Amino acid sequence: MNKETGAQQPVIAVKHLKKIFGENEVLKDINEEVYDGQVICLIGPSGAGKSTFLRCLNLLDKPSAGQVFFEGDELTALDDQHLDQLRQQMGMVFQSFNLFPHKNVLENLKLAPMKVKGTSEQEATQLANKLLKQVGLADKAEAFPDNLSGGQQQRVAIARALAMNPKVMLFDEPTSALDPEMVGEVLKVMQDLATAGMTMVVVTHEMGFAKNVADQVWFMADGYIQESNTPQEFFAHPKTARAQDFLSKILEA
Ligand SMILES: Nc1ncnc2c1ncn2[C@@H]1O[C@H](COP(=O)(O)OP(=O)(O)OP(=O)(O)O)[C@@H](O)[C@H]1O
Ligand SMILES: [Mg+2]
Repeated sequence: MNKETGAQQPVIAVKHLKKIFGENEVLKDINEEVYDGQVICLIGPSGAGKSTFLRCLNLLDKPSAGQVFFEGDELTALDDQHLDQLRQQMGMVFQSFNLFPHKNVLENLKLAPMKVKGTSEQEATQLANKLLKQVGLADKAEAFPDNLSGGQQQRVAIARALAMNPKVMLFDEPTSALDPEMVGEVLKVMQDLATAGMTMVVVTHEMGFAKNVADQVWFMADGYIQESNTPQEFFAHPKTARAQDFLSKILEA
């Protein structure tokens, strides 16, 4: 809350964000806000810049211009040390799970809290076990990533991100590398997180998830967020020709 105006401060705010790779102006002028507890689904055609946008939110990609704020702090103005501290508050889950293959599930979850936050081994173990239970994998603590299914590995990756106690979770197509029968179990974990109040920005092609779980759908194409609306409104009445075309193609597929 802003004490003076009573207005709620966004968790993430993006102002005039631009990202250019060489001559390719991928993000042209993005202005958006994410509020506490909101679930944003970011959708749009391949190459639209969705991953680039997500990576700009925690400055994994450095914006070419514009500002990114996290709880009022301007990330784009911070030095690396302060940036690292704020980055820890944004958990990120990718299409590829990126688990450490030579460490078991429990060790994968304990590593960052112990190394980065100085959490004691006992506390990190307790937390890891609690999170494994939350994602339905309490019995897999000793397993190695290679011996888990894709859906299980992705749930471990979500638990690992949660182990840093982030304020926001960023998901970049977390289910698109999975066999179809494993998509549901991962979406279920994400839906539970949303219900528990986690603030989330989710790049996804899962329109059912966007319809049922998102508070807002952002449709990105040609370097801009072309539409930002409730899922009910967006899916029933897409305003731009670009969004109508996109929806007709994916609904056909
Ligand atoms: N590191 C990079 N160097 C150069 N160009 C890049 C880099 N990362 C992304 N791009 C370009 O930026 C554009 C947007 O890519 P991005 O991966 O953000 O799209 P996307 O919307 O996530 O697509 P998809 O749905 O296929 O994942 C593409 O033209 C891509 O080639
Ligand atoms: Mg992408």
